[in-house]
Amino acid sequence: MTTMKRKIVFATNNAHKLEEVAAILGEEFEVLGLRAIGCTADIPETSDTFAGNALQKAQYVKEHYGYDCFADDSGLEVDVLDGAPGVYSARYSGGGSEENMTKLLHKLTGKSERGAQFRTVIALLIGEETHLFEGIVRGTIINERCGEGGFGYDPIFVPEGYDLTFAQLGSEVKNRISHRAKAVEQLAKFLRND
Ligand code: IMP
Repeated sequence: MTTMKRKIVFATNNAHKLEEVAAILGEEFEVLGLRAIGCTADIPETSDTFAGNALQKAQYVKEHYGYDCFADDSGLEVDVLDGAPGVYSARYSGGGSEENMTKLLHKLTGKSERGAQFRTVIALLIGEETHLFEGIVRGTIINERCGEGGFGYDPIFVPEGYDLTFAQLGSEVKNRISHRAKAVEQLAKFLRND
């Protein structure tokens, strides 16, 4: 007997994220990205919270395409900067990742308090219900870049319990302990029991 896979849309164009999430959700689900449902729109993300942005993306898909859907939003929150760059992590400096790290390191020059966290919020719209899932990984911002792997702020973030940056730890370790992994695990647990 063949069982129908449950179709769910992940509001992203990032093939790497899609693959990672599909692997965690497992065989029972068919995870479709935006391209697969014919959505080429630049979905607005105008909120000043992660949850707000994730909801905005998921609601756009649900309204325009009718699918059950989830969306994520993530960023880096630095304690002494009152949670900045936060939702503005990708566009912190107006340049790319290198410029973002340079700006952050500059802001932290001479500061001994280096605590920070990566946070992901996933918004799920399923049937008539809305659910939010969160993943956090605490760590510290070091003084200079270390490592070549990863993306974004990975070369300057050392997760708690490790002596290496996310860029040095490699994807296998990172995908086990990251903010995104934790949020996706919560989502997967919910969907499997639903
Ligand atoms: P997104 O919402 O997952 O696209 O993340 C927004 C921005 O937050 C990225 O462009 C990065 O600057 C930063 N960010 C999110 N997750 C990570 C991570 O795992 N490593 C490094 N930077 C990240």
